[in-house]
Amino acid sequence: MSIRLNPNPNHDIPICPDCAEPLYFDLVVFAGTMHEHVTRKPRACECERTAMEERRQLGREEQETRIVAAVRGRWQMDREALLRQTFMAWDHARQPSMQTIWEKCRMWAQGFAARRPRTGILLAGSVNGTGKSHLLNAIANYVCDTHRLPAVAGETAKLLDILREAIRSATAEAAGDRLMGELLTCPLLVLNDLAAAKDTEWRLERIFRIVSDRIEAGLPTCVSMNENPRLWGKQAVGLQRIASRLEEACDFMIVDVLAPEAVDYRRILREMREEQT
Ligand SMILES: Nc1ncnc2c1ncn2[C@@H]1O[C@H](COP(=O)(O)OP(=O)(O)OP(=O)(O)O)[C@@H](O)[C@H]1O
Ligand SMILES: [Mg+2]
Ligand SMILES: [Zn+2]
Repeated sequence: MSIRLNPNPNHDIPICPDCAEPLYFDLVVFAGTMHEHVTRKPRACECERTAMEERRQLGREEQETRIVAAVRGRWQMDREALLRQTFMAWDHARQPSMQTIWEKCRMWAQGFAARRPRTGILLAGSVNGTGKSHLLNAIANYVCDTHRLPAVAGETAKLLDILREAIRSATAEAAGDRLMGELLTCPLLVLNDLAAAKDTEWRLERIFRIVSDRIEAGLPTCVSMNENPRLWGKQAVGLQRIASRLEEACDFMIVDVLAPEAVDYRRILREMREEQT
């Protein structure tokens, strides 16, 4: 006994008026030489396959949007300022020397879903307001909004405060674990202004654990700060450990080297405000 699909559908098989594909196929079953048995089975035409795929995509997208929204809510990152910091909102004209860094960040974000990079980006620079946090938040927004993957982004000190509060509250020890777990497993973590959070042992310990556990898990962490970790003194052992992990976790982009002409955009914003009034 053998089974084959009829390669040439009979002319009497109804076709879809839109895509002209047959709506049934004939399953021909041969039993011996004399007996063949034909069963007509419904099949999905091209229109139906497209519609099915669209429904599947929609379901997945909705689900992913919900996850992204939940993560953003838990880390209080639905703040206006953060959501406004996108690649589109970037002013190229007034900050020309940051162009290369902008492009690198943009490319990194664009390829995120397909490449799932293990190495993040570290933007360090001594000049304030050059857009380091803006660019990393733009990456996080892009990953959330375009790739529909949950990214956690925020000021390092603020994120650690939220974590600490959850760990402290006696009733919610599990909540602390859950939040810590989220920092360790989210597809992308952005830690802005990391150097401002190196003031306590507890914070240093957490930063070290988060960065090294994410390396182990092969998940990228992006970091911005006003100090170059390569210049952290040898005496500060806690900092040295973190600096060494950051070398492993991130591609370094030192603004002072790559864009020495970069200016404080906060001052530009202030001047534009003053012109208006
Ligand atoms: N090229 C730009 N186009 C539009 N807005 C910008 C640009 N650069 C910076 N900004 C805005 O200027 C403000 C300061 O930028 P941001 O906080 O990213 O700088 P930073 O380098 O992280 O500063 P700091 O060193 O103080 O952390 C933000 O509101 C940001 O959105
Ligand atoms: Mg910053
Ligand atoms: Zn059809």
